[in-house]
Amino acid sequence: MKQLLDLKSDFPILSQKVNGKQLIYLDNSATSQKPQKVIDSITEYYSKYNSNVHRAIHKLGEQATLKYEEAHEKVANFINASKEEIIFTRNTTESINLLSHSLQISKKHNIIVTEMEHHSNLVPWQQICKETGAELRFIPIDKDGKLNLKKIPINNNTRVVSVAHVSNVLGTINPIKELSKMVHQYNALFVVDGAQSVPHMKVDVKDLNMDFLAFSGHKMLGPTGIGVLYGKKELLKKLHPFLTGGGMISDVKKDVSEWADIPNKFEAGTPNIEGAIALGAAVDYLENIDMDEINKNVKDLVSYLMKRLLELDNISIYGPENGDRTALVSFNLLDIHPHDVAEILDKEGVAIRAGHMCAKPLMDILGVNAVCRASPYFYNTKEDIDHLIKSLKKVQEVFAK
Ligand code: ALA
Repeated sequence: MKQLLDLKSDFPILSQKVNGKQLIYLDNSATSQKPQKVIDSITEYYSKYNSNVHRAIHKLGEQATLKYEEAHEKVANFINASKEEIIFTRNTTESINLLSHSLQISKKHNIIVTEMEHHSNLVPWQQICKETGAELRFIPIDKDGKLNLKKIPINNNTRVVSVAHVSNVLGTINPIKELSKMVHQYNALFVVDGAQSVPHMKVDVKDLNMDFLAFSGHKMLGPTGIGVLYGKKELLKKLHPFLTGGGMISDVKKDVSEWADIPNKFEAGTPNIEGAIALGAAVDYLENIDMDEINKNVKDLVSYLMKRLLELDNISIYGPENGDRTALVSFNLLDIHPHDVAEILDKEGVAIRAGHMCAKPLMDILGVNAVCRASPYFYNTKEDIDHLIKSLKKVQEVFAK
């Protein structure tokens, strides 16, 4: 692997100054930055072969279709799936919405999520339960920020168990293999929200035996507006389409239509072609570094971040110990609102996220309205974290006056 410092130079945005200070970007769980190769793939598409896919009988159309298909293949290989099992959506939220609407949930069912879900993996299930009369149940979390698997409320009426692989607030890495076994014993469907895991670690859908996996391109170096839903072939074939219209049919009469094969059946309308191609370029970039290296780097950075944050007085850190966590650390400084912390850090060039993290029920459980969250990616360095800590000390000084 190249030195971490070298990798920063692949990301043009990271060399700029913000408020007169060198930018230290630590908000990667909200969205990652993009390397030049990904940016170039978008420019290349628009300047060389912009055309619609699956329709045109001309050179540009052929090229765009080929690249769009290739993107499915790259993403499939990345998670050990096959090409037809990859559906391009807009983001994790849309992937979960697709599932919640297509799975034909009914009144007799219950759906299980966890108390640590972000809104993407909660609100769509909440709404479908309201519409159908199904029951929404929760796996509770313990005081260390881990799932309490002894209290999983599963039974023979459970249709879906949908769980974040990594919590976007606590950083907890959930025991996906163990959960998968448990869920399948009840013949329920196992859905994994990989928004915070797929960017950081090798996720093998077969090894972890997931029925469905949802994730977003923009958190893994890709552009916004492109997301993925993986589904096991035999399940996707049985599922009803979510959106209907152009591109997803095999035949249409005045009063009836037949659906195309998977994945096209789930990709209605002209898709986000450049987004898919750029996500393919992002996958190439990540694989070129190696996902195991990335996983190791991010975990090292997170454990350094935890260690350094613990040096501060009057700090609360949320989530489990090092080893059981990755990607991010959420914290609060006593008596200082997270928005004030983020604002002062911004003046120092440091970007973090402050707020409810799109996980309001979890905020209630933690007994706070908001938290500060620092989330490094593989291009960050220990120096970035040192800079964050120095700036947090400044915040405390300002409020001590
Ligand atoms: N779910 C994203 C986050 O955690 C937006 O910031």
